[in-house]
Amino acid sequence: MAKTVSVNVPGRVNLIGEHTDYNGGMVLPAALSVSLQLSLTPRADREVIVRSAAYDQPVRRTIDDAPSNDWSDAALGAVREAITMGMLTSGAEISVSSTIPAGAGLSSSAALIVAVLKAAREASSADFSDTEIALAARRVENEYLGVPCGIMDQMAVAAASIGTAMALDTKTLQYRLLPLPTTHELIVLHSGISRQLSEGRYAVRKEECDTAKAYFGSDDLCLLDPNIIQRSDLAEPARSRALHCATEHARVLAAANALESGDMTRLGALMNASHASMRDLFDISLPPIDALVADGIALGALGARLTGGGFGGCIVALVENAAREAWLGQLLAKHPKAQFIDAAGG
Ligand code: GLA
Repeated sequence: MAKTVSVNVPGRVNLIGEHTDYNGGMVLPAALSVSLQLSLTPRADREVIVRSAAYDQPVRRTIDDAPSNDWSDAALGAVREAITMGMLTSGAEISVSSTIPAGAGLSSSAALIVAVLKAAREASSADFSDTEIALAARRVENEYLGVPCGIMDQMAVAAASIGTAMALDTKTLQYRLLPLPTTHELIVLHSGISRQLSEGRYAVRKEECDTAKAYFGSDDLCLLDPNIIQRSDLAEPARSRALHCATEHARVLAAANALESGDMTRLGALMNASHASMRDLFDISLPPIDALVADGIALGALGARLTGGGFGGCIVALVENAAREAWLGQLLAKHPKAQFIDAAGG
């Protein structure tokens, strides 16, 4: 009988470094305590049966199926990729239960795909590294699901560990795991506005970055000198998008240093500058999210910003431990649609 293997993969929140991961730059995501538990049993036939604790009925697919706009697409795409990589020979039976909220920008989809691939790796005793698993998971998103994402989410959920942030160079895929602060908490709040990368605005930003890449003759917008971008006659909005990438990359480098040296005031200031850049240069924020961030800062957070792809989802705020309860209470009273996500990486 085929062996059943179980894996657990965390969600992630990005502390700083947004839209840098397909522009040659740095990101600083952290693994969350919410996670996805998955078990997989290889099958000899072509069926892929996916059960979720969230639904009564299992979904029955075959490995030949195209995506059908169903939640099981991610698992099916991952099974197909595992077959291509030689980790599965045919179909699989998969059971999932997850505490990562879907549609919140906390990488529930990356976690599902990475979990299937890690389970298939274990079932086959293949020796792919976590980085190779992350790259395979990105192929599933880009090529099977048609989601034009970068590599941050897959790397974070495949290789970060709870209690650390991953200072990841998305160009070389080298990373360092940095301990999260113990004196302060990185609090995740859902804005109440859901988002999906597949809905198109993310792809538009990516195309605008492509225009800037063609103009500067470089794939690495993040590595350009911001002064050169500023002085260029590249037309808007591509110029502003490129300027965000180059300045955001510099902020991630500074934020990793601030985290390592325990300089929470500096880390907070960099988070605030990142939000302003996402709002004014990259144009991925929304007025209700700007208000949530501004009130979070006014109520005493050292820093706060939109996190993830944009146009909804979560904010992340840096708050001193002792101030946490009062801060949360006051902010949620002012923003009743926002929800606290009890998912701290610490
Ligand atoms: C989404 C994508 C990532 C990254 C972020 C923005 O989470 O999946 O690859 O581009 O948006 O930083």
